[in-house]
Amino acid sequence: MKIEKRIEELTKIINEANYNYYVLDNPTITDQEFDKYLRELEELEKKYPEYAKETSPTKRVGGQVIQKFNKITHQVPMLSLPDVFSEEEIRDFDERIRKSGYNPEYVCELKIDGLSGSFHYDDGNLTLGVTRGDGQVGEDITHNVKTIKSLPLVLKKDLSIEVRGEIYMSKETLAKLNKQREKNNEPLLQNCRNAAAGSIRQLDSKVAAQRNLDTWIYHLPNPEDYGIKTQYESLNFMQSLGFKVNPLNRLVKDIDGILAFIKEAKEKRRELPYDIDGVVIKVNDLQMQKELGFTAKYPRWAIAYKFPAKEVLTKLKNIIFTVGRTGQITPNAVLEPVILSGSTIRRATLHNEDYVIKKGLKIGDIVSIRKAGDVIPEVVEAKIERRTGKEIEFKMIKNCPMCHEPLVKKEGNVDYFCLNPLCPKRNIEALIHFVSRDAMNIEGLGDEIVEELYNLGFIKNIPDLYHLEAKKEQILEFDGYGEKKLKNIIDNIKNSKNNSLERLIFGLGINGIGSKTAKLLAANFETLDNLRKASLEDLEQIKDIGHTLAVNITSFFANNEELINNLKELGLNMNYLGPKKKVHPLITGKKFVITGTILDLTRDEIKEFIENHGGVASESVSKKTDVLILGENPGSKYQKAIELNIPIWNQAKIKEVMEKE
Ligand code: IVH
Repeated sequence: MKIEKRIEELTKIINEANYNYYVLDNPTITDQEFDKYLRELEELEKKYPEYAKETSPTKRVGGQVIQKFNKITHQVPMLSLPDVFSEEEIRDFDERIRKSGYNPEYVCELKIDGLSGSFHYDDGNLTLGVTRGDGQVGEDITHNVKTIKSLPLVLKKDLSIEVRGEIYMSKETLAKLNKQREKNNEPLLQNCRNAAAGSIRQLDSKVAAQRNLDTWIYHLPNPEDYGIKTQYESLNFMQSLGFKVNPLNRLVKDIDGILAFIKEAKEKRRELPYDIDGVVIKVNDLQMQKELGFTAKYPRWAIAYKFPAKEVLTKLKNIIFTVGRTGQITPNAVLEPVILSGSTIRRATLHNEDYVIKKGLKIGDIVSIRKAGDVIPEVVEAKIERRTGKEIEFKMIKNCPMCHEPLVKKEGNVDYFCLNPLCPKRNIEALIHFVSRDAMNIEGLGDEIVEELYNLGFIKNIPDLYHLEAKKEQILEFDGYGEKKLKNIIDNIKNSKNNSLERLIFGLGINGIGSKTAKLLAANFETLDNLRKASLEDLEQIKDIGHTLAVNITSFFANNEELINNLKELGLNMNYLGPKKKVHPLITGKKFVITGTILDLTRDEIKEFIENHGGVASESVSKKTDVLILGENPGSKYQKAIELNIPIWNQAKIKEVMEKE
């Protein structure tokens, strides 16, 4: 009994010291004292394991190693927020809410650049930590979450509660970690967010423990359970339970308050010990939030204002030209590699001759680079003041860099084209496009393999793909083509013959026809023969098809009669196979099993919904089952699903998914 008491006492002292140090940033005991208590506790727990608790502070150092991450369904989906980039968009957001008849106050919070997590407590004890995942289903990261020192293992009140927040790595920790990695010749971690994400996905919690992760808690999914009426109250409430809540969060009355907060956040950004990438603006009143509700993807009561993209300087080493599948020539910037928002940038598109001339770029210039929409790198401008005089003028090429045929620029068009139908690069790009995911979706035939098979002479055009089987033995003589790999490719090519018409139309690569327009054409004309017979007038009657596209379509078919006839003979399906299944992030591609009865819904309704969204409804539970839908009076499938650790949706969940549709 005495020992149990001492363990309790030590736990309390250590937890308190931890809280003061990591949450309040206000140490109350020395490191030596802390270590002494911790060692005593460790020894007692070793000797008397029956008293060692799951939430003991000794667990902070890690030790648990898991085999895989289990999937956990979030009771309340973990949504992300719509991004906005300007004052105008913030004003629009405010106005929209006012127009709905509200006079809102807002809470402004820093947008921490880490990854969000959900933390569950039972009777005040931390029991579960989950990543956001796709927002509906995340991964169990409890073993690693327990090593985050600012996250309480035991709350100040014995509540059963879920809170959400950001798991992040401080700038200082990242710098130290990278120094260590440099010494060990390991690749450096690009930014705090990637570092935090990589650390939390460690199977071995000892590794995660060494990464010194931290948290800021900002969201209470079930505030009504605690009588909480505003976001600001919920922040204070979570803080009172022992969570680390950002002291810079601020309640503001109106748009001016929001703008002032953003201005200050921008000024403070550099000095903050952690990375932020913007400001989150939330309607304070929770009843108002509830009434504003959600769009398909986001809450209507909050937005994320993102700071303008970071720009970096680098050298424009060269401008090279690539040939697209239509023969279009694109100038590309070859850059001295630089790291920008977490990735190394080596290339950026320069679109066309006019674009380069307008920007006045010269080879050898120092240029600033940013990521457009945070993804695609773009050259912003040349730093004229950094010129040395050695820069080389940009000159558009006059001949195709691949086949050397003269390039052609059509009237009123900014782009140059290689019109040589035998240009190898054009043909390779056309083949790559034909097999790509949104077109014929031939898996296993990656860009490099297509290029190689082309260069080896095995496929020169689209019909050749369907003759590949006859050349199997010859291909196998080349290095890198195992029998299994090749068979897989050939099988996938064969299967692609059954694709619905829109994939073929898109795959043919008609100028200006994207996958959406291809679908429109397939749905309207139903067969390829109908489409190829269509006149300009027929085509222009379709919404979204203008004169230019109509001309592109008719001239494509006039010039490619032989190709289409060939494909027909080869047995490619040329019919539209009905409405494409709707994609649903939680259903498409997944296998479901239903057990028991679901109130208000028949099994057939659920099955139909699953199948219409590209999922499979099967009868028995196996390792391959993705989700068990659990109704009243379930059968043995339930037990089996639990044994196999298969995620389970209750009735409320499936109804919600079907209703939200
Ligand atoms: S609120 C419905 N608050 O930014 C509530 N998110 O695009 C959704 N984030 O996925 C989250 N700081 O990972 C919220 N103070 C903050 C945040 C924050 C960072 C992240 C979070 C979320 C994303 C929103």
